[in-house]
Amino acid sequence: MLEKLDALHTDFKAQIQNCAKQADVLNLKSQVLGKKGSLSEILKSLKDASPEQRKEIGPVSNKIKQDIEKSVQEKLNSIEIKEVNAKLSENMIDFSLRDSLIENGLTASGMHPVHKIQREVEDIFMSMGFDVLDGPHIEDDWHNFGALNIPETHPARDMQDTFWFKDMKHLLRTHTSSIQVRGMENRKPPFKFVGPGKVFRCERTDTTHEMCFHQLEGMMVGKNITVSNLIYFMKTLLKEIFKKDMEVRLRPGFFPFVEPGFELDIRWKKPDLKKGESEHSGWLELLPCGMVHPNVLKASGIDPDEYNGFAFGLGLDRLVMVRYAIEDIRHLHSGDLRFNKQFKSF
Ligand code: FA5
Repeated sequence: MLEKLDALHTDFKAQIQNCAKQADVLNLKSQVLGKKGSLSEILKSLKDASPEQRKEIGPVSNKIKQDIEKSVQEKLNSIEIKEVNAKLSENMIDFSLRDSLIENGLTASGMHPVHKIQREVEDIFMSMGFDVLDGPHIEDDWHNFGALNIPETHPARDMQDTFWFKDMKHLLRTHTSSIQVRGMENRKPPFKFVGPGKVFRCERTDTTHEMCFHQLEGMMVGKNITVSNLIYFMKTLLKEIFKKDMEVRLRPGFFPFVEPGFELDIRWKKPDLKKGESEHSGWLELLPCGMVHPNVLKASGIDPDEYNGFAFGLGLDRLVMVRYAIEDIRHLHSGDLRFNKQFKSF
């Protein structure tokens, strides 16, 4: 019986060498180790052997079985690695191309105007001592609404058409005010920072409204901050961006997270000018702002009796529209490189 086992083992080792596919290996395994396999058949005949023979054959057959199982596993692994490598070499991706692709793309069509203006605005605020913060696109209810004095049943939630996740606890952020909440959580006054980024609203699009657009919100919190400070920073920003004094108007605006709240509009040349209307009759809502509501400070652990501040939210896509006289916001997200190319030299 020992010779039979030895012959089986030698035969198995030869056969497994010739297996090219995993299916062949598994087939061979079942021919040897399966219920009716050759090893099982040999072991069945053990019942007729003497106790001494069994003592001798038992450990040998166990060792052969373990060796066969080990060889099967190794062969399966090596075939899998070969197959994966073959597939990879067929569809080879050269990652070293990545940078040159981005570089070529930028050379061909230039940086997107929204991205460009975002960087400019960040630089302007940094030069005035503001930090630049980032935040997640997927937000929770608290950071997008709750901490901003907009509790669950408050009608102000309807002001922003929201993309909720199925759990109704998470959403695509509707404004970059969520960055302000996160910024306040980690800071002690006095501080000032801005937070730019993409925001998402379930809006019907038109010439000035997109579903995915860009905002840059900011705030300054300290002692004895006034509306004059707010106006100073907003006018400085617009002067830097447009390289001239811009005509702006402040009108009352309601946002649950500021009190008082304002809408800062900028004078622009309306694209849909009606007959007889002056070129300068248009105002574009650009920059809502106001003095931070005490409840918002409290929600982030700041004592409103000691500190106050201002906050604002700038629409970056609209800023680009005013600067380059773009008549329809949808051009900005059309993905048309011919559109982008026009801004290459700016
Ligand atoms: C807000 O999002 C407030 N969180 C801003 C704020 C911050 C107010 C701090 C007060 C204090 P609003 O929904 O108005 O506000 O959006 C701000 C700006 O984003 C608008 O003035 C406009 O410039 C731009 N904006 C709003 N909706 C769209 C849209 N659908 N497409 C393009 N730009 C938009």
